[in-house]
Amino acid sequence: MNSVPRITVSLADRSYEIAIRAGLLEKLERDMKRCGLKGKVGIVTDQHVAQHYLKPLAETAKQAGLEPVPIILTPGERSKTLQTVEHILNVLARYRFERSSYLLALGGGVVGDLTGFAASIYQRGIPYIQVPTTLVAQVDSSVGGKTGVDHRLGKNLIGAFYQPRAVWIDPLTLHTLPTREWIAGLAEVIKYGIIADESFFRYLERKMPDLQKQIPQVVASVVKRSCEIKAEVVAADERESDRRRILNYGHTIGHALEALGGYKSLVHGEAVGIGLVQEADLACFQGLCADEVVDAIRRVVKNAGLSDRMPHAAPTRIWKAMLHDKKVSSGQVIGVWPTRIGEVRMAPLGKDVFDRWCAKSRAASRSVSVLS
Ligand SMILES: NC(=O)c1ccc[n+]([C@@H]2O[C@H](COP(=O)([O-])OP(=O)(O)OC[C@H]3O[C@@H](n4cnc5c(N)ncnc54)[C@H](O)[C@@H]3O)[C@@H](O)[C@H]2O)c1
Ligand SMILES: [Zn+2]
Repeated sequence: MNSVPRITVSLADRSYEIAIRAGLLEKLERDMKRCGLKGKVGIVTDQHVAQHYLKPLAETAKQAGLEPVPIILTPGERSKTLQTVEHILNVLARYRFERSSYLLALGGGVVGDLTGFAASIYQRGIPYIQVPTTLVAQVDSSVGGKTGVDHRLGKNLIGAFYQPRAVWIDPLTLHTLPTREWIAGLAEVIKYGIIADESFFRYLERKMPDLQKQIPQVVASVVKRSCEIKAEVVAADERESDRRRILNYGHTIGHALEALGGYKSLVHGEAVGIGLVQEADLACFQGLCADEVVDAIRRVVKNAGLSDRMPHAAPTRIWKAMLHDKKVSSGQVIGVWPTRIGEVRMAPLGKDVFDRWCAKSRAASRSVSVLS
C-alpha cells in the first residue's frame, strides 16, 4: 500500500496530522487504532452525507473493533445552533460516552464546527477527529480548531478553539458534492495562492480546467497544498492574534455580502470569491498593488465559475455590515491587502477611502443585484 501523505499541524502537545488520500475512508482501520480510538465512537454527520459515506465509515469502525453510534443531523447552516449541540450532547449522555470516547465529524463545515464544539464541552472535553467531505471543509474548516455555532444575532458568535486529534481527508468524497458547493470551495483555494504562494496561484491558473473536471490528481494536490498553507498559518498563530488574520483576505467584504443577503442569496465561498476580487481592487485603489494583480485575481476567480461583481447595495450598508463583523477590533476595519500575488499586508481601512472607492466602482461598472 502506498504511504498516505501526511501534513503535521505543529501545536506543541496539541499537534496533529492531516492524512490525505483517495479511498482513505475505507482504509482507516490502522489510523483508528493508531489514534487510540476504543469502545463507543460517535459519528456525527448530516442526512446528505450519511446517504453516501456513513455506512463505509461505520463498517471500518466496526472492523477496528469499535462500536459506532451515528448522530445524523439536518443538513445546512440552519442546524448550526446551540440546540443541535444540545441534541448531540443528549445522545452522548444517553449512550454514556466517557472522557476517552471519540467523536468523528463526517461532513462539511457545519458538521465539523458543531462536532468540535460539542466535543469541547462534553465532560469538559473529549477527543474528536475531522473527516471533511466538502471542499471548504477539506481545505479550510477542518484544520485549525475553530469550532462553534451561530447565534440569532451573529454567525459563529459562540464557540471555542479546540483542536481535533487528526484530520482524515478522502478527496473521492468530493465527487458527490453539488457543483455549487464545489465552486464555492474554490474561492478558499484561490485565497491561499494569493496570500501565501505565487507558484500555487500560477498552478491554479493553469489547472483550472482540470479542477472544473475534478481530475483526481489535481484535486488531491490542490487539497494538499491548501492544507499545508493553512497548517503553517495556524501553527504560527493558533488564536488569530496576528498572522492567522491573513486567512481573512476576501472575507471583510465577503462576510458583509453574506450578511446583507441574509445568508440566503450567496453561499460563503461565493461571497468570498467576490471579496477576493473587490478587496484586491480596493488595495489597488489605495496604491498597495498594481492593476495586473487585480486582473490576475479577477481572471482566476471568473475561470473558477465564481462571480467577481459587487452586488448592488448602498455603500453605507456594506460599511455597517463590515463593522458588524466580529473580526473588527475597536470599531476599526482592518483589511488584508495583496501587495503582489503570494504576499499580503494588513492595514486599517478608513471610511473615507471606502466611500471614494465605492463611488469610483459604481461609476466604472454595472452592478448586479443578487442580494435580497
Ligand atoms: N471552523 C473554521 O475554521 C471554518 C472555516 C470555514 C468555514 N467554516 C464554516 O463551515 C460552514 C460551511 O461549510 P460547508 O461549505 O462545508 O457547508 P455544509 O457543511 O453546509 O455543506 C454543504 C452542503 O453539502 C452537503 N454535503 C457535504 N458533503 C457532501 C458530499 N461529499 N456529497 C454530497 N453532499 C455533501 C451538506 O449536506 C450540505 O448540504 C459554515 O458554517 C462556516 O462558518 C468554518
Ligand atoms: Zn472562508
